[in-house]
Amino acid sequence: MTRIIAIAMQKGGVGKTTTTINLAAALAGLKHRVLAVDLDPQGNLTQHAGFDPEQLSPTIYDALKAELDGQEGNVRAAIYESKEGFDLLPSQPELSLVELSLMNTLSRERVLATLLESVKGNYDFILIDCSPSLGLLVINALTAATSVLVPVQTEYLAARGAFMVLSTIETIRRKKLNPGLKIEGILLTMADTRTTLSRDIQEAVAHQFGAGQRIFETIIRRSVRFAESAVAGQSILAYDPKTPGAEAYRKVAREVLQHETR
Ligand SMILES: Nc1ncnc2c1ncn2[C@@H]1O[C@H](COP(=O)(O)OP(=O)(O)OP(=O)(O)O)[C@@H](O)[C@H]1O
Ligand SMILES: [Mg+2]
Repeated sequence: MTRIIAIAMQKGGVGKTTTTINLAAALAGLKHRVLAVDLDPQGNLTQHAGFDPEQLSPTIYDALKAELDGQEGNVRAAIYESKEGFDLLPSQPELSLVELSLMNTLSRERVLATLLESVKGNYDFILIDCSPSLGLLVINALTAATSVLVPVQTEYLAARGAFMVLSTIETIRRKKLNPGLKIEGILLTMADTRTTLSRDIQEAVAHQFGAGQRIFETIIRRSVRFAESAVAGQSILAYDPKTPGAEAYRKVAREVLQHETR
């Protein structure tokens, strides 16, 4: 069974894209078949994987647009092999236009799920990098997913509305769009080594999210290597395999493999 993990959080710049590419690279490194989906018109994942969103064609935009126009979207044609052993379904800026077209479509929440159906069988994992919103594209990701990984910037833990994504997940379940949607876990990112005591963090999360939410044991610390690897168009695992950030994402991958969210 393919596990489809949406990486979602409505706040910008919390490490969604960084988590998607590095988890994709780590899982691929463990010989799993992985498809990374860039569902963000910003195209950061596409760039981070070493591609130019302005140059690639077709992309997920073409596949979604065909589907919306009543044709069969050809996802296969829009999948590219990365240098790091995982496949990429890239984005392009025009993807932002799809959000509007979706509004007037029948089963508008299920277009992505339908699209992924045709390639799902080729992968053990499909990771979907979402944009920082709770718009229809994100709803599509949450409807297609088996679970959601929620990256949370450690300093932002106590902020109001920090976990709006959780009530969206609850709505998705309740409206029967995806009743079995699970939470893969909350991943703490960009932690400051000096201040963060992991026990305090766990308590803060339990306070905000309610007890019983799964929190990844691995905490992602701040490191300049992440931004450097993004500029280089590589995962941190390829850019600097020995750096603590690379080891952290390898651990996240092992935790994901241990979770029973099939
Ligand atoms: N652990 C980290 N330490 C330091 N910098 C990081 C870390 N994780 C990510 N970054 C950097 O922070 C910036 C934002 O990260 P990223 O793009 O992954 O966030 P995002 O949630 O995908 O943002 P958006 O909401 O805009 O899509 C990037 O420049 C990235 O390289
Ligand atoms: Mg992003």
